[in-house]
Amino acid sequence: MLPRRSILSVPGHMEKMHAKALASEADAIIFDLEDSVPLEAKKDARRQVIQTLETIGENTPHLSFRINALDTPFGYRDLLEVVEAAGRRLGSVVVPKVNHPGDIHFVDRMIRGIGLAQGKPLSIGIEASIETAQGLEQVKKIARASRRVQALVFGIADYSASVGARLVSLSGHGEKEEDIYPGHRWHFALSRLVMTAKARGILAIDAPYGYFKDDAGLVRSARMACALGCDGKWAIHPAQIDTINRVFTPSAEDIERAQKVLAAADAARIAGRGAVAVEGRMIDQATVGLARRVWEQARALKLIDTPEA
Ligand code: COA
Ligand code: MG
Repeated sequence: MLPRRSILSVPGHMEKMHAKALASEADAIIFDLEDSVPLEAKKDARRQVIQTLETIGENTPHLSFRINALDTPFGYRDLLEVVEAAGRRLGSVVVPKVNHPGDIHFVDRMIRGIGLAQGKPLSIGIEASIETAQGLEQVKKIARASRRVQALVFGIADYSASVGARLVSLSGHGEKEEDIYPGHRWHFALSRLVMTAKARGILAIDAPYGYFKDDAGLVRSARMACALGCDGKWAIHPAQIDTINRVFTPSAEDIERAQKVLAAADAARIAGRGAVAVEGRMIDQATVGLARRVWEQARALKLIDTPEA
């Protein structure tokens, strides 16, 4: 799978923003039909997203769209109309407020049915947005509900509302978390999501940071997600993409460190040893696993071209 560091959300009805998003450096784009679209524009947004998808050229970032929740009058129609009309252009569909594996079964079967009707299977993945207490409680079953599930996405604002956590900034997206709780307020929820995703071999994606003029805050929030094992983070404004890409890209220092570890482990193996010391630190097979991951990430991003150090 290609790197999915930055995922830019674009309101479905804002045509002007679609071109801007497609010209950006985002690894993925989500055309949103849910919370960034007012009720009266839901139909137009669907039409606009289809039109954009139909007219897009080749070599695009990963393309996705977010339907409305399945307990609204819009969700099933979003899925049906967009997938029927432009499903071949889509890498995935984001399903918001997934509360139950049944939500995933429904989406999976709809996609399968549309493929059958068109005489050719559709290879659209599902990204399950976990943003309620119920969803987090059911996350393991949700992640395993279909082979199409390719990512779990954390929905921070809705999750906060769902568990009755206080609103501490205007946007509700990730500010002042360290002030209100020792450590990180969403450590458990995000770690639970990451653990479940990785146990299933799929991506874990963090929520967006709402204060888009606060780059330092975005760096902190993205670093936290990266430290916990997330593969990427949503962006809600193009100005956030470079920062997110940078945080989720192994630095030259990270790559050099990984190379040192892999080389030392290789030398240790030849000398018949499992653990060795380098610069006063123990390196064993667990360290090698971490280093190999950095190496693979760097290779996927074409920062290096050798198979291993
Ligand atoms: N995708 C693509 N282009 C975007 C964009 C986005 N998400 N957000 C802003 N832009 C564009 C604007 O259209 C503007 O383009 P222009 O210079 O050609 O006029 C430029 O970037 C600068 O925008 P700016 O004036 O700084 O922002 P704004 O005040 O117009 O909008 C938001 C701010 C937050 C309303 C807007 O960024 C937005 O709608 N973001 C996405 C919201 C979303 O998807 N929410 C659901 C997921 S949580
Ligand atoms: Mg939400």
